[in-house]
Amino acid sequence: MTRYSRRNFLKTGAGAGAAALFAGGLTPRSAASAGSPAAAPGTPRVVSSGNGIRATAKAMDVLRAGGDPLDAVIAGVNIVEDDPEDMSVGYGGLPNEDGVVELDSSVMYGPTHSAGAVAALRNIKNPSQVARLVMERTDHVLIVGEGALKFAKAHGFKEEDLLTEKSRAAWLRWKETMSDRDNWFPPKTESLPEDLRSVMSTHGTINCIAIDAAGRLAGVTTTSGLSWKIAGRVGDSPIIGAGLYVDNEIGAAGSTGRGEANLLTCASYRIVDAMGRGKSPEQACLEACEAVVAKTKLVPRLCDDQGRPNFGLDFYALNKKGEFGSAGFYQGGKYAVHDGVENKLRDVAYLFKRREGDR
Ligand code: GLY
Repeated sequence: MTRYSRRNFLKTGAGAGAAALFAGGLTPRSAASAGSPAAAPGTPRVVSSGNGIRATAKAMDVLRAGGDPLDAVIAGVNIVEDDPEDMSVGYGGLPNEDGVVELDSSVMYGPTHSAGAVAALRNIKNPSQVARLVMERTDHVLIVGEGALKFAKAHGFKEEDLLTEKSRAAWLRWKETMSDRDNWFPPKTESLPEDLRSVMSTHGTINCIAIDAAGRLAGVTTTSGLSWKIAGRVGDSPIIGAGLYVDNEIGAAGSTGRGEANLLTCASYRIVDAMGRGKSPEQACLEACEAVVAKTKLVPRLCDDQGRPNFGLDFYALNKKGEFGSAGFYQGGKYAVHDGVENKLRDVAYLFKRREGDR
């Protein structure tokens, strides 16, 4: 639920590199974190977005018990899909402009190089499980909307209302305060908790990628997508190559944040490809950020007064050696890693420092 409108970049350090970028030179720039060492052979590792610390813990439990990496990452994100307090994923996710929760998810499994995905799926709390069934029980990769719901029901999933009181109240506030030229009036006294009052546009999501002791890679991305979106809008999360990509010979990558920007960049595929050409996971994620920044410059409405993206988009990567990394545009992001020894949040590498006073 972070808003990016008041951020700035420094004229030194990371900002100097960014200046080169804006001048047209795509120079790699400094990062907030130092990347990661390779894992000792046979060490499982799990990487997730900042909202995934419980997912990485759960996934590591599954891997340590000898479980499959796809079982592990799906079990991990199911915790967040089921949690009404995470308003960016699954149950309790923020709805579309009509007040209906629509979910997107994809899974990809390295050993068989197969993938499955669902998009604009309504009334089913765990779209990641449905995405897996698309992969395992159909000849398709992506099923959307009504078809995805019918498919889920055919496999025994029960329909339920995914809108919680909290997400309904946030949606109603958005609806009532959107315009003073319509027929909706805001309440006379504020009834929403403060943290929800500034919820104008979010792209929250969870990505989780893992490697097991045998070197098998798998990943999942799941989301309720952009809040207040036009019904039927699909983001990057269910698009293989954008919100998720896995190549068992190289590594895995995924994303959270503004899906439209990623759909125009296909960053997860780029990141895996870059790792295949020898880039570290962190370098590969930073390069993807640079690519998005370069294209975003062409769209003034998506830029702040210094030509930087006025939105967020973060990438996560894990290679075959167990090295991991993450990058986003702005300083301050965290991502979750279980490195086989400890499970903790780490700093996301970044292109731009925040200005003094930015949130
Ligand atoms: N990255 C999630 C979305 O834009 O839907």
